[in-house]
Amino acid sequence: MPRQSCQLRATLSPSAAERQALGRLRIGGGRRLHGIVHVAGAKNAALPIMAAAILADEPIRLDRVPCLADVETLASVLRRLGIDVHRSDDGSLSVETIDRRAFHTGYAHVRRMRASFCVLGPLLARRRRAVVSLPGGCRIGPRPVDLHLRGLAALGADLRIERGNVVAHASRLRGARIDLAGPSGTTVTGTTNVMSAAVLASGVTTITSAAVEPEIVDLGRFLNRMGARIEGLGTSTLRIHGVEQLGGADYRVIPDRIEAATLLLAGAITQGRVTVAGVEPDHLASVLDQLDAAGFQLDVESDRITLASCGPARPRDIVARPYPGMPTDLQAQWTALLALAPGTSRVVDTVFPQRFQHLAELQRLGADVRLEGANAAIRGVGELAGAPVRATDLRAGAALVLAGLAAKGETVVSGLNHLDRGYEDLDGKLARLGAEIRREEVHDMIDHRACCIPLVGPVNRNSASRAGC
Ligand code: EPU
Repeated sequence: MPRQSCQLRATLSPSAAERQALGRLRIGGGRRLHGIVHVAGAKNAALPIMAAAILADEPIRLDRVPCLADVETLASVLRRLGIDVHRSDDGSLSVETIDRRAFHTGYAHVRRMRASFCVLGPLLARRRRAVVSLPGGCRIGPRPVDLHLRGLAALGADLRIERGNVVAHASRLRGARIDLAGPSGTTVTGTTNVMSAAVLASGVTTITSAAVEPEIVDLGRFLNRMGARIEGLGTSTLRIHGVEQLGGADYRVIPDRIEAATLLLAGAITQGRVTVAGVEPDHLASVLDQLDAAGFQLDVESDRITLASCGPARPRDIVARPYPGMPTDLQAQWTALLALAPGTSRVVDTVFPQRFQHLAELQRLGADVRLEGANAAIRGVGELAGAPVRATDLRAGAALVLAGLAAKGETVVSGLNHLDRGYEDLDGKLARLGAEIRREEVHDMIDHRACCIPLVGPVNRNSASRAGC
C-alpha cells in the first residue's frame, strides 16, 4: 500500500505538509537490489489531464492516476473550482463538474505546485474567465510562463498581470497560428495550456514548436477521447480543429517513464538486477541507450524491462534535452550513478541549466562532483559514505536516495515533501527490492528541527510549502 494517502483528502493541511517536510528516510546502503516492481501512472501526464477535465460537459473517469501529493494538491484546486474529484475503491479517479461559476485559483496551491498553472487554458476556454496566480521562480531555476501567455493571447484572450495573478478573459477563443519556441526550446506545460484551450476555439489552430513528450501525446489522446480534434500528436506541429463542446471519457494514463528509469538506476547503482513492469519501453529509448553504453545488460519486453549489472557504471557524458533526449527529470539520478563510475563524466542540462542543487548534497556523501560553468564535472570515486542529506527538489531527492542505497553506512534523507510530490511509495518499492530503507515520520523522531522550530508557525509553514516545482 503506498505511503501517500490515496484518499484525495481536501488537501494536505499545513501540519501534514510540515510533518512530511520533517520526515526522513533512513537508508542502510550497500545492498544489491533484486526483484520486480510495478510502475505507477505518469505524474506529468495525470496532472494536465485532470486540469483538462475542466473542459468536459460530462463525467470523466481516469485510471492509473498515481497516489501523490501533487495529485492531491490539484484535486483540491479543482474542488475549489466547483469540480468533484474522488478516488473510487477500484483506484480510478472520477472528475465531474458540479458548478461552473468559479474561475479563481489562489496562490497557496500554485506556490505548492507549478502544475496548478495548467488550469489556465481550460478555464479560459470553458468558463471564459480565469484568475490564476503566477507561479514565480523555483529551486531548479527560472520558470517563466511567457510562452503560455503568448499562446493564449494569440487565441484571442485578453491577459494582464495584476497583484501576482494572471487575469484572463475571452469571449469565444478563435483559432490561430502559434509558435511555442522560446530561448530554451519549447515548453511542456505551455503546450498543454495552449492545446487544451485551442480545442474549444472556433476554427483551426496550428501550434508549431510544440512539445513532443509522451505526456503531451497522452493529454492529446485524452482530449480526442472527449471529442476534440487534434492532429499531429507526437510531432512538433499540432493542428487542432475547434469543436463546440467536449463530452466525458474513460481514460488510462500512461506509465511514469521517470519513475521507471529511477528504479532502473537504483538497480544500476547497487549493481543489482531489477525488473520494472507495466512500462512503455518506447518512452525510455534514450535512457536505455545510455544504460547500455554504461555497461548494463538490458532485457526489454513489451511492457517490462530488466536491468542486470556486471560492475559499476562506465563513465558517460549525459546531456539532458527535451524528448526524445535524456529527460532533465533524470539528470540528478544519472549524476548519482556516475559519481561511482571509475573515470570522468560530464552532465549538462540544456532544459534547466541551473538544476544542480543536488551536487552539494552528493558531495556530502563523498562524491567528487563540481559545477564547471554549466556542466557538472564528475570524477568517479570507489565508494560513497553515508551522511545526513537534504532533498532540495523532487528529482534531487531521488538522486540522494539512489546515492544512499549505494553508500557505505547510513544515509538519512530529509525533505520528503519533495519526494512524495512525485514518487508513489518509492521507499516501499525499494524495500520490496531488498533495500534497507525506513521512513521516519515526524512523530517518532527527535531532531534539532523538531526541537527548535514549532510545528505550526510561520517558519515551518514556509519551509514546507516552497515545494512547488
Ligand atoms: N520556458 C520559457 N518560457 C515559458 C515556459 C518555459 O522560457 O513560458 C523555458 C523554461 O525556463 C525551461 C524550458 O523552457 O528552460 C522548459 O520548460 P517547460 O515549460 O518545458 O517546463 P515545465 O512545463 O514547467 C515540465 C515538467 C517538469 C519537467 C519539464 C521539462 C510538468 C508538471 N512539469 O515542466 O517536471 O522537468 O517539463 O521536461 O509536466 C518534475 O517532474 O520533476 C518536473 C520538474
